[in-house]
Amino acid sequence: MTQVRFFSGEHTPLEMHKVRIVQKLNLPPVEDRQRNMAGAGNNTFLLQNSDVFLDMLTDSGVNAMSDLQLAAMMIADDSYAGSATYTRLDAKLREIFGFEYFLPTHQGRAAENIIGQSFVSLGSIVPMNYHFTTTKAHIRINGGDVVELLADAGLQTTSDLPFKGNMDIGKLEAFIAEQGREKIAFVRMEAGTNLIGGQPFSLQNLADVRRVCDEYGLMLVMDASLLADNLYFIKTREASCRELSIREITLRMAGLCDIMYFSARKLGCVRGGGMCIRTDEIYRKMRSLVPLYEGFLTYGGMSVREIEALTVGLEETMDEDMINQGPQFIAYMTGELVKRGVPVITPAGGLGCHLNAREFLSHVPQTQYPAGALGSALYIAGGIRGMERGTLSEERQPDGSETLANMELLRLALPRRVFTLSQVKYAIDRVHWLYENRELVGGLEFTEEPEILRFFYGRLAPVSDWQEKLVGKFRQDFGDSL
Ligand code: F0G
Repeated sequence: MTQVRFFSGEHTPLEMHKVRIVQKLNLPPVEDRQRNMAGAGNNTFLLQNSDVFLDMLTDSGVNAMSDLQLAAMMIADDSYAGSATYTRLDAKLREIFGFEYFLPTHQGRAAENIIGQSFVSLGSIVPMNYHFTTTKAHIRINGGDVVELLADAGLQTTSDLPFKGNMDIGKLEAFIAEQGREKIAFVRMEAGTNLIGGQPFSLQNLADVRRVCDEYGLMLVMDASLLADNLYFIKTREASCRELSIREITLRMAGLCDIMYFSARKLGCVRGGGMCIRTDEIYRKMRSLVPLYEGFLTYGGMSVREIEALTVGLEETMDEDMINQGPQFIAYMTGELVKRGVPVITPAGGLGCHLNAREFLSHVPQTQYPAGALGSALYIAGGIRGMERGTLSEERQPDGSETLANMELLRLALPRRVFTLSQVKYAIDRVHWLYENRELVGGLEFTEEPEILRFFYGRLAPVSDWQEKLVGKFRQDFGDSL
């Protein structure tokens, strides 16, 4: 790992790339931000990006691409079937992950759809370290359900545990013994566990899960969408892997799984997805669904330009200087917020900096969506767009009652190589200001609530006039500043 020390002794994440294409940003005045938020139904997904200063909604499809990726797009071979572009991707996937088969999809959830339809049926259960929104929705729509067997420590919001994404192996064994293997569709491990703050699992934990799967003849499926972050954490936090290269760690991880699927909107920094598959039997079971839902087997809904860039992006993921940028910026932001007393998820994980809204807005009940309210307030305070990852992102129970989330997080994603350190400092400053004024922030209630994945396009309103008061305080503290 490249180590660049500063004479001052300061720990500053240093970019190992330079910026050669830029996009102008707009920071509307605070009054406009309040209006925009109301227009978007207090849902950050519904904001116009031209009204957003720092788009920290997600790292999905918005990572910066490299010069080599953009150059590769120009040589893409635009044929429907048997494209040379696809052959190059196939070879790269084999080289890096070592699976025999690959099926492309247009994004990660499309792979979840195909895996769900192929292996999940009425009454199936899928044990996993933790769910992701689209994963759970695809398992449920096929009549199955998920059970989370995360080690208890993973739900502690503040800790110094290196691998909070680990599965509890004892719980997994007990669960399979109790339920019987027949009901279990497969076991799923999510790298860089998204909804608990981008927390990794260890290579040892994955190997332990594999051992249990072998004992019961179960398939192990890894969601590798956030693999890049998890690789970095295994390399830097797992003592037994310190001497291994990123390439070796990748091969070992992939070698433990029967299926490894991913969103290439995250892994590889493009837009696409796919499934690497171990055996001919599993491949054949899923193959026919690709032409049905995605496109022919040599593009699967992806544009050939994206495929060409993915081949390069996967190779770049093997570069420690590339995959350390996100986690190092996130660690910086998290560390600075901790210094200011702001409740954040620790240790810093991948994907983004995660504010603990349950503590930040401890006066807002979970039924008034504190993480959603914090997202709305932060846009008003700074033009920063985060993503609610809490009760709002859950689905209601069949009886209509709320599923209260284990964690109420506002995720401030740091798409890879996109923001500069001064922009991160600005975000820290505005979050800090909001924390000092947290008593002003109130809850939200639905005005329009979709049944499935409601967080994407549901609309909400503040329960009081708290947003006007927040804007008033902003003007008082910041004068005519934007
Ligand atoms: N699995 C994980 C762990 C993810 O984080 C995502 C997407 C998916 C699957 C689905 O992939 O979007 O390509 O269909 N996460 C995005 C996010 C939406 O913002 O965290 P997709």
